[in-house]
Amino acid sequence: MSVLDNRPALKAEIDKVAEVAGYLWMKGWAERNGGNITVNITEWVDDGMKTLPSISEPRPIGKTLPSLKGCWFYCKGTGKRMRDLARDPMGNGSIIRILDDCGHYEIVADQPVAPTSELPSHLAVHDYLLTKGSPYRASLHTHPIELVALTHSRKWMEKDAATHMLWSMIPETRAFCPRGLGMVPYMLPSSVELAEATIRAIDEDYDVVMWEKHGVFAVDTDVMNAFDQVDVLNKSALIYITARNMGFEPEGMTDAQMKELSDAFGLPK
Ligand code: 13P
Ligand code: ZN
Repeated sequence: MSVLDNRPALKAEIDKVAEVAGYLWMKGWAERNGGNITVNITEWVDDGMKTLPSISEPRPIGKTLPSLKGCWFYCKGTGKRMRDLARDPMGNGSIIRILDDCGHYEIVADQPVAPTSELPSHLAVHDYLLTKGSPYRASLHTHPIELVALTHSRKWMEKDAATHMLWSMIPETRAFCPRGLGMVPYMLPSSVELAEATIRAIDEDYDVVMWEKHGVFAVDTDVMNAFDQVDVLNKSALIYITARNMGFEPEGMTDAQMKELSDAFGLPK
C-alpha cells in the first residue's frame, strides 16, 4: 500500500523525480547522499489524501512561510542517496504537508522519512515563487563537478562572468538557460542564511544559482526542466575545460552572435 496508489497523476510527478535522481547519479553529481529535490505537489493532492493522518509529529521548518499554507511537497529524505531514490522514491523520500501556522510540517507518506536538510532553502524558495505567482513547482540542488569547480575561482564568482563564458560555449546553453547563473557566496549548508541568499539571487532574475564551493540550486516548472537547465550549463563548462585541455583558450561566440540568438529566440536577457 502506498499513498500513490490510485493517484496516477501524483505518481507520474514523483516518477519524474526518480528519473532525474537516476540521471544525477549517472552524471557523477550525486556522491553519497549529495543533492536534494523538492516538488510542490499541491495540485495533485485530492480530497481523500487531505484526510489521511500524519505519520509524524509536527516539525518546525525554521521559518514562517505564509504562501505555503495548505501546500504539499515531495522531498528527498535527508541522508538518502539519489541512486536509491531512483529505484524507490517513497522509501528514500516522503510527502509533507504544511500546517496552518505556516511554520511547521508533518509527514503524510508511506514511511516517516525525514526531509532533506536543505528544506529551509527549498521551502523558502517555493514560498517566494508562490508569492510572485510563478508557475515553477520544482527545486533541485545537486553537486555538478565542473560547475562547482568554477566557484573555486574569484574570477568566475564575479557577477555574470561565468554566465557569459558558459553562454558563449554553445548556443543551446543561452537558449535553454536563458537567465544565466547567479552566484551565492559560501554559506553553511542547510542554514536559513543560505536560504535567504538563494532567494535574493533568484529574485535578481536567475533560475539557477551556484552555492560557492558546494553545488547548484535550480528552479523550474518541473524537475525535468530544472535538471535540463543545470545540464546545459555543465555541458558548457565541459566544453570550456576540453578546449583548455587541448591547449587553448576557447574563443566563445561573439557578442553579436549572442545578441542575434537572444533576438531570434526572444530570450529574457
Ligand atoms: P540531504 O541528504 O540532507 O538532502 O543533504 C544533501 C546535500 O547535498 C546537502 O547540501
Ligand atoms: Zn549539497
